[in-house]
Amino acid sequence: MPFEKTLLITGGAGFIGSHLVRLLIDKYPNYHIVNLDKLTYAGNLENLRDIENRPNYTFVKGDITDAEQIQGLFGQYGFDGVIHLAAESHVDRSIANPMSFIETNIVGTVVLLNAARFHWKQAEGKLFYHISTDEVYGSLGDTGFFTEKTAYDPRSPYSASKASSDHLVRAYYHTYGLPVVVSNCSNNYGPYQFPEKLLPLMINNIRDNKPLPVYGDGLYTRDWLWVEDHAAAIDLIFHKGRVGETYNIGGNNEWKNISLVHALCDIMDELLERPAGSSRQLITFVKDRPGHDRRYAIDASKLKHELGWEPSVQAAEGLRRTAQWYLDNTAWLERVTSGAYQQYYAEMYGEAPGR
Ligand code: NAD
Ligand code: DAU
Repeated sequence: MPFEKTLLITGGAGFIGSHLVRLLIDKYPNYHIVNLDKLTYAGNLENLRDIENRPNYTFVKGDITDAEQIQGLFGQYGFDGVIHLAAESHVDRSIANPMSFIETNIVGTVVLLNAARFHWKQAEGKLFYHISTDEVYGSLGDTGFFTEKTAYDPRSPYSASKASSDHLVRAYYHTYGLPVVVSNCSNNYGPYQFPEKLLPLMINNIRDNKPLPVYGDGLYTRDWLWVEDHAAAIDLIFHKGRVGETYNIGGNNEWKNISLVHALCDIMDELLERPAGSSRQLITFVKDRPGHDRRYAIDASKLKHELGWEPSVQAAEGLRRTAQWYLDNTAWLERVTSGAYQQYYAEMYGEAPGR
């Protein structure tokens, strides 16, 4: 039986991409899902072990900046749609080394756009879906929310590279009529997140009784979304979103970093059967991130009103599930924190993490 559609998912071996690929493979057995990933430090085929032998799944190791390879894949598979997640995604790494962010996030996106433009002469029924971040909007004060109309004001090399790619995607819509859609999402959390990001880093350090490095005064605010809720929103927008539109996605779940770390510490004490308060004692305030955005908060009402999406997992449950997943998957955690991670951590935090 031929497949009804063939979709290219870029970055499907990463954190959000692996949840999206799993969702699509399960929900659409009649779609052929082609996952293209470079397998950088953040990409891990272990994240997809449970679905890797499905008949509607193909993995291709490749680089979105490699125009010849990307053109070849479009020719070979005749993609009906692209959901583009591949990116360098960590703000601190972008501060240390902006160039790989420019290459992958900007140049790689243009390589994909060019291939879609070249191969989709008949663009009817095709869609290029670009996955982006709320960080393009910059920083909020104590009140207010980012809407789809908020002016772009990126502050880090990471967010500037994502802002640039968003603009290029929209430029291809306006200039060449390429059918595109963009979504900008808040902070995701859940299983398979690389432990350079706040929550898995803290979970890993609590396990090892290591200091918990909180940047600056810890009063920075993020809006946290359960990663499977993001994957569900992407599925919905891909199938029902209006071409040329932008949708904000958020958890309506604001936490100051220090409060989130406190909540996590208390859950970890319980799960590890340690005396109450022991993990909190590991908290250490460290030098702030340069250009640290003070507050992000998303107004996701457009997505709710147009497409009926709402986050489904509440923070208390999501945090507990996340902590439990890492404790149940220590082999995964130990593998990804061995090798190059040790050097990254030592350079970032001035000491080795656990193990
Ligand atoms: P991640 O770092 O976990 O995964 C990125 C994936 O892209 C990895 O599998 C990596 O191997 C792959 N990749 C990197 N460079 C590549 C290249 N040149 N060619 C092919 N593959 C390459 O990132 P994530 O957190 O899953 O984020 C996925 C996307 O969602 C990114 O575009 C990010 O900007 C966006 N986003 C992330 C969040 C979040 O909270 N994590 C929130 C909003 C938007
Ligand atoms: O808002 C969406 C963005 O969320 C995504 O686009 C990015 O890809 C993703 O990495 C995330 O960016 P943040 O910079 O918000 O996430 P991070 O986990 O790095 O940091 C969350 C907050 O915690 C931030 O205020 C910095 C702080 N922090 C982070 C680390 C790693 C600490 O205080 N200590 C730490 O060790």
